This record gives sequence, structure tokens and C-alpha cells, in this order.
Amino acid sequence: MRDSIKITTKEKEYWENKEEFDWMPKKGILEILRKIPRPWGHVVELCAGSGMFTRYVDFRNCNTYTCLDISQRLLDKLKFSLPQVNILLGDAQNLNFKEKSIDCVYIYAGLHHLPRLDSCLLGSYKILKAEGKFICFEPNADCFYRFIMLKLRGLLGLYTEDEVFLNPLAITGKLNSIGFKNVKIKYVTPSYKLKHIGILYPLFIIMKLIALLPGRRFQSFFIITCEK
Ligand SMILES: C[S@@+](CC[C@H](N)C(=O)[O-])C[C@H]1O[C@@H](n2cnc3c(N)ncnc32)[C@H](O)[C@@H]1O
Repeated sequence: MRDSIKITTKEKEYWENKEEFDWMPKKGILEILRKIPRPWGHVVELCAGSGMFTRYVDFRNCNTYTCLDISQRLLDKLKFSLPQVNILLGDAQNLNFKEKSIDCVYIYAGLHHLPRLDSCLLGSYKILKAEGKFICFEPNADCFYRFIMLKLRGLLGLYTEDEVFLNPLAITGKLNSIGFKNVKIKYVTPSYKLKHIGILYPLFIIMKLIALLPGRRFQSFFIITCEK
């Protein structure tokens, strides 16, 4: 079993040393946001980082929008560019919001950094009001090229030591067993910024072209939407 305290501490150290995390171009982010329900009411974004997605969120129907992350440094960066959102330093595996007080929970590329992601899913369920939405966007472990990426992990320098790719069907099963309804999966292959991929860009382009084929085995990320 993975040592969750040790991993979470290492993740915190890693992310406190990053000033920004910005790997997707605007077009790619907007494409993802178009595929998911718009936020409304009281909204929480978990593992928000420096707000790569938050920057493009349509806040018009939100009463409050709170970004939670384990890194104060990334949250400070987020607050600087988006003063209208609330920031909250915290652990997504131990949510401290009032039960049944939140309308929507979003998590973009965050769940796969949590050694106790079940606690995050259960915590999200508890804080959501009835009919409240849970939405996540995560790297798909079933995509053919993830295996290659894991082998190249050290060389690529793209991943933290302990992040894992997620099996979408396993996450769906967990959400269903917690009690979430209408659990739906979409598969997507988003674009990366060139500077994020570095010298391995040619290899990445080839894999990305194949990853444009539809379905679980090809697309590199998945989006899950569901409700309480
Ligand atoms: C891959 S980044 C994604 C950031 C942002 N959502 C985005 O898409 O740019 C993962 C984020 O998860 C945060 N994180 C890692 N473990 C966490 C935890 N236990 N609780 C809250 N945030 C965590 C990191 O600080 C980092 O900002």
C-alpha cells in the first residue's frame, strides 16, 4: 500500500517549488470547458494550482468560487490573476466544507495526484447538495501511450514522482458505489504547449496523432461528469 502521508508531503514540497503550472494552450482548455457543465451557485475547484483552467471559467452563474490547493505559492499566483475567486490552502483528501453546501465540485488533473483519491470522492459527495455536480478531467491509464510515458518518466521530467494515471472505469465504479448518479465518461486528447514537452516533441506528435482516434484505448484523458 502506498504511504499516503509521505506522498502528500512530497507532492506539497514539489508544488510549493513551482511558481506556475501551465501546460495547455487556451484553445485546448476552452475545448475541455465546452464539454462540461458550466458552474453555478457555490463552486469548489480542487487542486486548482495556479488556475490554468480557472482563468477561462465562466463565473456568471457562480455565487462563490473557491480554489483549493496544497500549494500556497500556486494559490498566490492564482489570486493575483483572479482576485474575484476565494483561495483555500488545504488537502483535497480531507475537505473541510459544510456538508450539503456546495453546488459543483471541479477537479482538473488533480485526482491522479492524490494517494487517497477515494477520500476526495467521498468528501466531494458529502459537501455537495442534492443534484450537485462532480466533474473531473484526468489522464487516462488505458490510453496506449501512457505505458510508454511511464517508461520514459525519468527522461521526460513531466510528472511528479508519485502521480499515477487513472483507469476511467475504476473511477466510475467508485463514484457509483459512493452513490453518485448519471456517471458519464468522455474521452479527449488535449493539446500540450510546446515548452512543456521540450525535446521529445517529435515523439509526442506521433503519439498525439494516434491518440486522436476515438475511444478509451486511444484518447489520452477522460472527463467524468456525475451528480449527487
Ligand atoms: C497537475 S497540477 C493541476 C493544477 C491545475 N488543476 C491545472 O490543471 O493546471 C496538480 C495540482 O494538485 C495539487 N495537489 C496535489 N496534491 C494535493 C492535495 N493533496 N490536495 C490539494 N491539492 C493537491 C498540486 O499542488 C497541483 O497544483
